[in-house]
Formats: sequence, C-alpha cells, structure tokens
Amino acid sequence: MTFAAAPIQFANKAELYADLAEQAGGLLHGERNPIANAANFAALVWHALPDLNWCGFYLYDGSELVVGPFQGKPACVRIALGKGVCGTAATTRQTQLVRDVNAFDGHIACDRASNSEIVVPLFDGDRLLGVWDVDSPTLARFDDDDRVGMERLCAVFMASLG
Ligand code: SME
Repeated sequence: MTFAAAPIQFANKAELYADLAEQAGGLLHGERNPIANAANFAALVWHALPDLNWCGFYLYDGSELVVGPFQGKPACVRIALGKGVCGTAATTRQTQLVRDVNAFDGHIACDRASNSEIVVPLFDGDRLLGVWDVDSPTLARFDDDDRVGMERLCAVFMASLG
C-alpha cells in the first residue's frame, strides 16, 4: 500500500505528513491573516490527502464554534462547546479520532456520507481558537499516524499566525 499526495507516492503516512507539513510551512509563510491561512491550509490538505469528503475549520467566536474556511459540501454552521466531535475536541482539548461516527454519542451529521472523522483542537496557550475537522466516507480512515500527522500540520498552521 502506498500513500499518495498527488502526484507523489510515499512509503508511509509519516513521510506523507512530513512532506505536507513542509508544504504548509511554505504556503503560509509570510502571512498572518487567520482566514487567509485557514483557507489555503484547508485547500492544501483537501488536494493532498485521499478519501476525504470534508476538511475545514470551526472557529471559536467567544461562545460557540462557527464554521470557517473549508473544502467539501456546505456544512453545519454553529456547534456548541461540548457538542458533537468538534465541541468535544474543544472542551477536552484532546484530538478526537473517531473510527465510526455512528458509534460516537452525539456526533453531528452534516453529511451522511461521513463515516469516520478526526478533529484536532486549536489552542494558543489557554485560548481556544477553534478546531480542525476532517471527515471521510470510509470507516476507520484515520489512525494514530493520522493523529500525529494532523497535529503536526495544525502546529504549522498555529505557528503561521505568529
Ligand atoms: N461531525 C462534526 C460536525 C461537523 S461536520 O463533520 C463538517 C461533529 O460531530 O462535531
């Protein structure tokens, strides 16, 4: 099995994410606008990773999570803290790796095509910025290598904001 970040093939996910982190660093370098960087980050990941049906940001507005730059079909706009996979990532401050969204109590189904999901909380110290959410139509699409890789990518995104 190989892992594609078109048009390059990688031997494993660690190499794929290392390459993607480097690309993200280059893409976001020199710009601090959070919306601009979030939009380009979502587009980069969307085109690099196979088997996704949604990837994007929910940004914290001071009371709840509001959909931000993303790729994929239109999505739910607002998610309360503690609700769904996104709200759970925000309140627990832990990446949520959901192999089967139908088995996750409280999962919010924006698109019924989604079967697995990973959500990384984005914090600047103690300040919640939002979450990075990626969905796939394939069950168990994401594993611990994806968790490590996505957290690394999110660190690049957070660092770009200065
Ligand atoms: N499934 C998410 C909602 C956002 S959509 O996947 C784009 C959740 O349960 O929080």
